[in-house]
Amino acid sequence: MEGIPQIGLGLFSLHGAALEAALKAALESGYTLFDTAYKYGNEKEIGAILPPSSTVCTKILGLQYTGRKWLLHFDRQSIRKSVSQAARKLQRSPIDIVLLHHIFRGYPDAFAELLEVQREGLVKRIGVSSYGIKQLETIRRKCGVYPDVCMLEIHPYHSSPEVTAFCAQNGIHVMARSPFAHGQILPELGRERIFQELVASTGKSVPQLVLRWCIQHGWTPIPRSADERHIRENIAVFDFELSAGEMQAIDALNRDQSYGVFIKK
Ligand SMILES: NC(=O)c1ccc[n+]([C@@H]2O[C@H](COP(=O)([O-])OP(=O)(O)OC[C@H]3O[C@@H](n4cnc5c(N)ncnc54)[C@H](OP(=O)(O)O)[C@@H]3O)[C@@H](O)[C@H]2O)c1
Repeated sequence: MEGIPQIGLGLFSLHGAALEAALKAALESGYTLFDTAYKYGNEKEIGAILPPSSTVCTKILGLQYTGRKWLLHFDRQSIRKSVSQAARKLQRSPIDIVLLHHIFRGYPDAFAELLEVQREGLVKRIGVSSYGIKQLETIRRKCGVYPDVCMLEIHPYHSSPEVTAFCAQNGIHVMARSPFAHGQILPELGRERIFQELVASTGKSVPQLVLRWCIQHGWTPIPRSADERHIRENIAVFDFELSAGEMQAIDALNRDQSYGVFIKK
């Protein structure tokens, strides 16, 4: 989709010197898209470092000030407030991409407000995170349009074929979060025959092959890494191509296994 780069860097739980080093390595190696969220608590740090030319995706929760503390709250007014807070922290307006972080009661109203905020020019692209076909259809019925973006857990063991096909049919751009299932699936993928063959034939690593598979599907993967070598490795995926048969062989690994939002300890 126009304005959305083919790959980005996920910034969940990165702060301070680690965040600074990751952003430096990413900017040097050519990343232009960065994914954060109100919940990650690092929008302000990111806003202070990234050049205005970069593309930032953030995710909002509604916020309501009770006079004593901020409460998570999902109504139209609090959505608007959340967007302006994010813009202030990120030091950019319009914000490139804003997503509703979760499914919650009242999400159609919240999305309607986000659409209004977009029409006022405060956000370029709007969307949702971890929504299914049912919720995307509800938004369409209520607001007359589908979201621009849907962020989904996507990796070879959870490739969400129904919802990604629905997104493709309806012009919804897919951002692939947790493309390595928080790193947990990389050893197992390395033992899959298709990955062993591809590592041998392309000289690329398993993470690079997963990211290339996402990109060829038209999804934007946002791998997270705090390791400068991995950050550089993950963007070196534009000098080779997977064949249709190789893409299908990776698709066939799907077993609808979600690894959740965080690493379960
Ligand atoms: N919308 C949502 O609800 C939601 C939920 C989860 C995540 N997200 C977004 O998606 C981003 C990525 O997802 P994620 O954080 O769950 O995990 P992920 O990207 O699937 O995996 C990250 C893990 O993989 C490792 N890794 C990265 N590149 C590697 C490489 N080339 N070789 C070996 N290991 C490598 C990292 O370790 P090193 O640091 O050592 O490289 C890290 O442990 C998040 O940062 C966030 O922006 C969104």
